[in-house]
Amino acid sequence: MSKAVFNKRLLKIGSSASIALMDKARVMKASGIDVISLAGGEPDFNTPKPVENAAIQAIRAGRTHYTTGRGIPSLRARIAEKLEVENHILCRNILVTPGCKYAISVALEALLNPGDEVMIPTPSWVSYDAMVRLAGGIPVSVPLSFNEEYRISEELLEAHVSPRTRIIIINTPNNPTGRVLSREEASVLSAFVLKHDLFVIADEVYEKIIFDNKEHISLGSYPELKGRVIVANGFSKFAAMTGWRVGYISGPEEVIDMAYRIYQHTMTCISEFSQIAALAALNHPEETERMRKSYLERREYWYLD
Ligand SMILES: Cc1ncc(COP(=O)(O)O)c(C=O)c1O
Repeated sequence: MSKAVFNKRLLKIGSSASIALMDKARVMKASGIDVISLAGGEPDFNTPKPVENAAIQAIRAGRTHYTTGRGIPSLRARIAEKLEVENHILCRNILVTPGCKYAISVALEALLNPGDEVMIPTPSWVSYDAMVRLAGGIPVSVPLSFNEEYRISEELLEAHVSPRTRIIIINTPNNPTGRVLSREEASVLSAFVLKHDLFVIADEVYEKIIFDNKEHISLGSYPELKGRVIVANGFSKFAAMTGWRVGYISGPEEVIDMAYRIYQHTMTCISEFSQIAALAALNHPEETERMRKSYLERREYWYLD
């Protein structure tokens, strides 16, 4: 079929490399090949029992209908509490989404106009580039250096900003480098964002998989950045819930309302039993800690000084 019939934005993006590899590994496994897939960020734990049980009970109780699109009130209230207690973010504007991936995508769709630029420190997760293009924006890579331990500096940021820049995506802890944002970098970013009047999309989906007493810093907690930071997070990684598809964004009221407008016409809501399971996940931090300790043991096993 002629390429002319397709949305031009689609022609600029490829398939997701990680999903393509995951699919390939699945096919290999199905044909009896003993392969270990490291393609996707998929915990090898099953969803913890208390989470599973909460969902089973919810299904049996008939919690299988449409819910309010923003997310059930009990889950949104619990997310708001978590943001306040753990991340020092006071925010009641929350939209529950099918995974953190859609959370980021809908935030980009809400904010971008054709030709707007989005800065992405790289190496980065594979999907940001494509998501920005799909939303009509232009991804601008900010190449961080291995020799500098992938440190974000004012010079690098200034070298890649332009009058068209609207957003910078910050992913900490980072996929794929594992780098955790430092206080010093957060201050540099905060001044930069204010100077250039930008929004930040803070992808914090790996916040709980953190080692060596490192502190997870959310730019959403910086008072001077109020109204500029959209925090995206999800349940896939910390609660081994990749298949349940639950995530969220929180941030400025107008941005969340606009994202919800898109959401209403594309998603409606996510299943209530998944949301009830997500609520249980937030109430069982000991399960997250059990998995984190196991990841740490494995890291120690492989780590070479
Ligand atoms: C950095 C990063 N952000 C977001 C996601 C998406 O997570 P979710 O399953 O919640 O959509 C992933 C998944 O691999 C990721 O690596």
